[in-house]
Amino acid sequence: MTEIPVEIRPLTYADLPQVVAIERRSLPTPWSLAMFVLELSKPDGACMAAVQDGRLAGYVICSRYDDVWHVMSVAVDPARRRQGIATTLLERIFDQVGHDARVTLEVRPSNVGAIALYERLGFLAAGSRRRYYQDNGEDALIMWRTPATRGGRLDDVPNARAARLGP
Ligand SMILES: CC(C)(COP(=O)(O)OP(=O)(O)OC[C@H]1O[C@@H](n2cnc3c(N)ncnc32)[C@H](O)[C@@H]1OP(=O)(O)O)[C@@H](O)C(=O)NCCC(=O)NCCS
Repeated sequence: MTEIPVEIRPLTYADLPQVVAIERRSLPTPWSLAMFVLELSKPDGACMAAVQDGRLAGYVICSRYDDVWHVMSVAVDPARRRQGIATTLLERIFDQVGHDARVTLEVRPSNVGAIALYERLGFLAAGSRRRYYQDNGEDALIMWRTPATRGGRLDDVPNARAARLGP
């Protein structure tokens, strides 16, 4: 565990080349620069950067649809993982959108590290989307963080059903 401090601040357009570089090393179907520009241009977004040692270490992109926040993308530089950076980024998002806000995301069932991260932050699996990921036809696990899920329940999650975890 390194002790190098991490600064969390709003993500800017100037960060996007480093965002794309981390994204390409992190995800099987990385977003393009244009997709990040579009997300960052949304007036209702909540997007944060983690900076360590003067370099972008990670980022999170959230968008609001009606009264629900969607975590669209979160990634940390492979060399800087397991230092709590994603946790700090997401906690900063919860500070911004409100701790009782309803937040949802999709994740690959095979991404056990990300699922563990989300569960530690109060998300619960509440359904799946069939063949959501086009590269390998994998289903998506739908996770929610709401006042109920933070207490281990799904009763304020729309169309919730206990979802199978693991690949
Ligand atoms: C998922 C990801 C964002 C986590 O970032 P991170 O900064 O390493 O996460 P944190 O250090 O905050 O992890 C907090 C906790 O989550 C869990 N966790 C995180 N990564 C894990 C892994 N690879 N395996 C198992 N548990 C993991 C652990 O409980 C961890 O606590 P610990 O280190 O004390 O055991 C990072 O691995 C990543 O960028 N992955 C590729 C992109 C991706 O999959 N994004 C999510 C798409 S839905």
